[in-house]
Amino acid sequence: MNVYDSARMAEVLAPLGYGAASSPEDADMVILNTCHIREKAAEKVYSELGRLGLIKSAREADGKAMVIAVAGCVAQAEGEEMLRRAPVIDVLVGPQSYHRLPELVAQVARGGGAALNTEFPPEAKFDHLPKTRDAQGVSAFLSVQEGCDKFCSFCVVPYTRGAEFSRPLAALLDEARQLVEVGAREITLLGQNVNAYHGCAGGLGELIRHLADVEGLERIRYTTSHPLDMDENLIRAHGEVPVLMPYLHLPVQSGSDRVLAAMNRRHTADDYRRIVARLRDVRPDLALSGDFIVGFPGESDDDFAATLALVGDMGYAQAYSFKYSPRPGTPAAGLPGQIPDAVKAARLAALQSLLRSQQTAFNRACVGRSLLVLFERPGRHAGQLIGRSPYMQACYADAESHMIGEIVDVCILEAGANSLAAELIPAPSRPKSRRVA
Ligand code: 5AD
Ligand code: SF4
Repeated sequence: MNVYDSARMAEVLAPLGYGAASSPEDADMVILNTCHIREKAAEKVYSELGRLGLIKSAREADGKAMVIAVAGCVAQAEGEEMLRRAPVIDVLVGPQSYHRLPELVAQVARGGGAALNTEFPPEAKFDHLPKTRDAQGVSAFLSVQEGCDKFCSFCVVPYTRGAEFSRPLAALLDEARQLVEVGAREITLLGQNVNAYHGCAGGLGELIRHLADVEGLERIRYTTSHPLDMDENLIRAHGEVPVLMPYLHLPVQSGSDRVLAAMNRRHTADDYRRIVARLRDVRPDLALSGDFIVGFPGESDDDFAATLALVGDMGYAQAYSFKYSPRPGTPAAGLPGQIPDAVKAARLAALQSLLRSQQTAFNRACVGRSLLVLFERPGRHAGQLIGRSPYMQACYADAESHMIGEIVDVCILEAGANSLAAELIPAPSRPKSRRVA
């Protein structure tokens, strides 16, 4: 979401004459687009600001100005407090107001101190963003939903991103067509809780069916989802819409019902098992991804064992896992039974070792198979391209650069934990239809 928001901020500022700079030393303005989800991410902002402050002073000594802007959820959550802690900031803008960046920058240019906007404005941000979209490349993001009403007890998102909002279907179809016109072959639909999308009757499943009709759009993905919003129409779309890729990021956070209840997730571990089983009924090769939190307040050894058991049952192709980080203003931060860091670290290491072995096994099972890869960009070595398999695996092969943007049948030669080495299958034996795997 932040990558998407950053691209849109660049678009908003382009009419003022701003373009991408190659380094902060060369920049008239630097925007830090920030994340508040865990303490580590939020603290990083202040160390970056320290570094940028030095660059700003050096530029000023040379008679050049530099505007420092902080955007995103740290700006939203900390507001004016940030200005006190880091007076080097010129502009503070929350994720709901970045369409107002031009005014804020103008305000700074007029003098009179920092400009700040962290409102949840009554007008919809998307109505105020420029219509034409810069090319994002072969694989593009499309924000369809923002905010979250779930209020998981550990999470700042409902406070920083606000209430759920879904963009209307017509606007999304328009934007998808524009993205395809400027080169996108794959679109990832974004939302903090994307499967709560309600911009059309039939929800996200229906939106995906409409998007599948956009000519030239070959792949659709979406992220990230809540199990409770995995409705039947969306599940069926996984079996019925060939351009919907067989990869799903469906966070469960914990395998213990006690912890899930304390997290206010409003589902049990077995509910999750049933949803995944239903998805695999309609799409047996679905690659599953997820998020996990270890060391939530009160998590016992048995609770953690239940998480390992759930992971063992599900088989993840990929996953993210985190130590619980108490966030200011969230209910869980005040719960008794906070877990010592050493225990969190040990649990995280055990969980990550299991997840890594599952990911490696998933990748190794692809060796010798043919997969359709969408080439996105040059690889690390000359003559190489890199792209994604239907299952989101990074895949590299020797291929000519004109093949960027093509979906190509490759044979998998080797598999590591994080990528697959492949070779092209000669064109005559390539299938004509765009089958998925
Ligand atoms: N501590 C640790 N991880 C968190 N996440 C969200 N809030 C916290 C927190 N306070 C994780 C969840 C979520 C992902 C985006 O970040 O796993 O799914
Ligand atoms: Fe946060 Fe996701 Fe829960 Fe919403 S559903 S509160 S974004 S963890």
